[in-house]
Amino acid sequence: MVRYSESLIDEIKASNDIVDIISQYVILKRSGRNFLGLCPFHKEKSPSFSVSPDKQIFHCFGCGIGGDAITFICKIENVNYKEAIEILAEKAGIPLPTLDSGRSTKIEILKQKVYEINDIVANFYHQNLYTQTAKKAQEYVKKRKLDNKTLKKFMIGYANGGNEVYRLLKEKGFSDEEILASNLVKKTTFGYNDVYRERLMFPIQDVKNRYIAFGGRTLEPDGKPKYINSPEGMVYTKGRNLYAMNIAKSANMKNIIIVEGYMDAVSLHQRGIPNAVASLGTALTEAQARLLRKYSEKVVISYDSDAAGQAATMRGLEILTNVGCDVRILQMEGAKDPDEYVIKYGNGRFNLLVDKAISLIEFKTKILKNTLDLSNVSDKIKFLKETAQLLTTVNSKIEQELYIDKIASEYNISKEALYAEINKISNKRVTTKILEKRPTTVIKKENVEKKLIEREKAIIALLIQEKEKIYEQIKNEISVNDFKSEINKKILKKLYEEYEKGNSNINSILNFFVEDEEVMSRLTEVMSEEYQIKNDDKTIKNVINTYKIEKLDSRKMELIEKQQMPGLSKEEEKNIIEEINKIIIAKKLIK
Ligand code: GTP
Ligand code: MN
Repeated sequence: MVRYSESLIDEIKASNDIVDIISQYVILKRSGRNFLGLCPFHKEKSPSFSVSPDKQIFHCFGCGIGGDAITFICKIENVNYKEAIEILAEKAGIPLPTLDSGRSTKIEILKQKVYEINDIVANFYHQNLYTQTAKKAQEYVKKRKLDNKTLKKFMIGYANGGNEVYRLLKEKGFSDEEILASNLVKKTTFGYNDVYRERLMFPIQDVKNRYIAFGGRTLEPDGKPKYINSPEGMVYTKGRNLYAMNIAKSANMKNIIIVEGYMDAVSLHQRGIPNAVASLGTALTEAQARLLRKYSEKVVISYDSDAAGQAATMRGLEILTNVGCDVRILQMEGAKDPDEYVIKYGNGRFNLLVDKAISLIEFKTKILKNTLDLSNVSDKIKFLKETAQLLTTVNSKIEQELYIDKIASEYNISKEALYAEINKISNKRVTTKILEKRPTTVIKKENVEKKLIEREKAIIALLIQEKEKIYEQIKNEISVNDFKSEINKKILKKLYEEYEKGNSNINSILNFFVEDEEVMSRLTEVMSEEYQIKNDDKTIKNVINTYKIEKLDSRKMELIEKQQMPGLSKEEEKNIIEEINKIIIAKKLIK
């Protein structure tokens, strides 16, 4: 990816106060040295999203997400690093090197050419659909009941094949390199050939209406592959866009309907349902979920009614709920997908289904019910138990009661029985908590590991806060591979590298991790108030020593576990015991 210079990025960051930036999206209230608000990246009722003006970072203690102003813009606007910088530069009124200033890179120019090519080819394919050679395609769109207005709106087209596209682009003066970069033409031993042949073409546009990719459908009933989609390229990253979002976004919508196929989206739009978008072949990604969230909090999943569609619904539900969407699932009978349904029954009935779309809890209850036979006593008990389990995950009591009413009447079970099961579960929770305290090796080992990882985080926090004081000591005593957590390892490694170079500016170190969400979140977590460590020598020594002790404990735990494994040789057993003894002595030496 092309990058702006580090100094320019630093200037842009310095000119944008993170509190100002985030306030444009989240209501923030001052709380001590920080600001607090409801996290825009997950659903929550009490604020755990914290913004630090001193450190110019944000961190959510609910979902763990965190970063600097650039990360925030990336996530909330669903853009890449470079685009986020451009947004921030604009907010701060800082001019960026542009294409015609002569400073832009070769890649930028190539990208621009690919957009141009995609635009030309989308138009070309569309025109093509109305020519003599496209007879079969014309019959096909007729069979699929697509009208001319829709064909035009979505620029649906026809690709003949051969090397028509190649020749057209050459005529327009594009170079072979530019043409190949579009992924619309491939080089073979015989020369240049168009990728799409005898296919119905769906150009894909981003929310800025730029043509970024294509999907080409076979016209044969059982043609394989059914679709050929553009690979990732100069202007297309999979999982970042939604088909028809560019059109849906300007519709006046109370929700967005997400469907599986291009055809479903197109068909719904044609029938007066302009808030449908398609997820473009792949399973719904988090970036797509955030894009949806940006335009509408309410999302209705309307995937195919087959098993694959149901599985995709489950996954989609989870992703969408995580980014804070209010998700409903549309239940469809009598058709395999929205396209078939809306053709068969019309948009009025489809809209009714949208209104009746069910929530996560109801969806899960229904799936559960389908695996059971409720006239059978043991199945009924199972149903009661699992439904009760589900209902305990509902946050509000009122909501829970509403569900209980609904489920009881729908599945013909008694409300009292459901309440009783729910109470049983709540009581059991208390007892399990007590049981967990009983020291069995399994639980203890997990605890030791957890504690150790926490302690590693404290070491990192310390290193960031008190570099001058402790860097030399820590460097000598702890090596990167001593750390257990992979995320902590990455951070420690980078800190060592940068400190060694004399760079101890944590904000510029953050820049290294823009593409690594986990690391970014971990860093902002340890930079938060919760990890502020008193900087007197005694506390510092304490943190380091506790880490050392816990590390030895963790190793000892591993050894004890190993010792209990069957089939150890005498030699192995001896080695284990020796190491354990060494650990005991080493622990005594730590003061
Ligand atoms: P119709 O079957 O014509 O109604 O198309 P559809 O758009 O409804 O497609 P379908 O529900 O079968 O698949 C959903 C989406 O998955 C499609 O829109 C494509 O994006 C993608 N897809 C389907 N089949 C293929 C395939 O063979 N290859 C690839 N790469 N993607 C596919
Ligand atoms: Mn379909």
